[in-house]
Amino acid sequence: MEFIRIGIYMAMESEAKAFIESLEFTSGIDTSPYGFKSYSAEDKNYKIQLLVGEQDSKYNVQSVGTVPAAIATDMLIKNFNPNVVINAGTAGGFKSRGAQIGEVYAADSTQFHNRRIQIPGYAEYGRYYLTHKNDYYQKIISNLNLKAGLLTTGDSLDYSDLDKELVEPNKAVIKDMEAAAIAWVCYHHQTPAIFLKSVTDIVDGPHANVNEFLQNLQEASTNLSKTLIRLIQSHAL
Ligand code: ADE
Repeated sequence: MEFIRIGIYMAMESEAKAFIESLEFTSGIDTSPYGFKSYSAEDKNYKIQLLVGEQDSKYNVQSVGTVPAAIATDMLIKNFNPNVVINAGTAGGFKSRGAQIGEVYAADSTQFHNRRIQIPGYAEYGRYYLTHKNDYYQKIISNLNLKAGLLTTGDSLDYSDLDKELVEPNKAVIKDMEAAAIAWVCYHHQTPAIFLKSVTDIVDGPHANVNEFLQNLQEASTNLSKTLIRLIQSHAL
């Protein structure tokens, strides 16, 4: 078993709370100016640096979305030099692809769905499709028995008809607001990335996403934390 440095980014404190309480982390340190909080934990097999987008200082809400996610990931990689970056969080699931609330996925690929640029060559750049079937991913999939598939990212919680046009042909299984930006940063640093997402709401179901998200956030975050702990403690990396 080799010693491993694991960098983790979680956008919301609500998603991270159960995980922070389950492992012996140092208390969060503010990494100004963005209001990210930094937590660390270690034992003989691993060292973990966790960044959480805890609070936007202007609007006093948690820092969801691609911009904070990209900046935090760049900070994690430059300051901590991780062997692998894990983005853990919640996602909407597509019931047409078999997703159910509370399930945890390990995405095998990522794309943006709301960067529509109709100039030759730029459509592919906008989508920025990347696969993540690295050695860590292969181990996780075989050890933890998680669902897999394409994770699609946009900066909106809703799902417009235009979003649908880019998502449907590619058969995404889950949808979030950070992953493709984190994938972009990791790609440029050549750092392997893992995406663990727990389903809070059904994107193509009958209920409003906001209500489902708020209703299921705690259960989904608990499942996410259990998966992270299994992954770390069973040496599945
Ligand atoms: N995170 C949780 N649910 C989501 C959804 N429906 N869309 C984007 N991000 C999410």
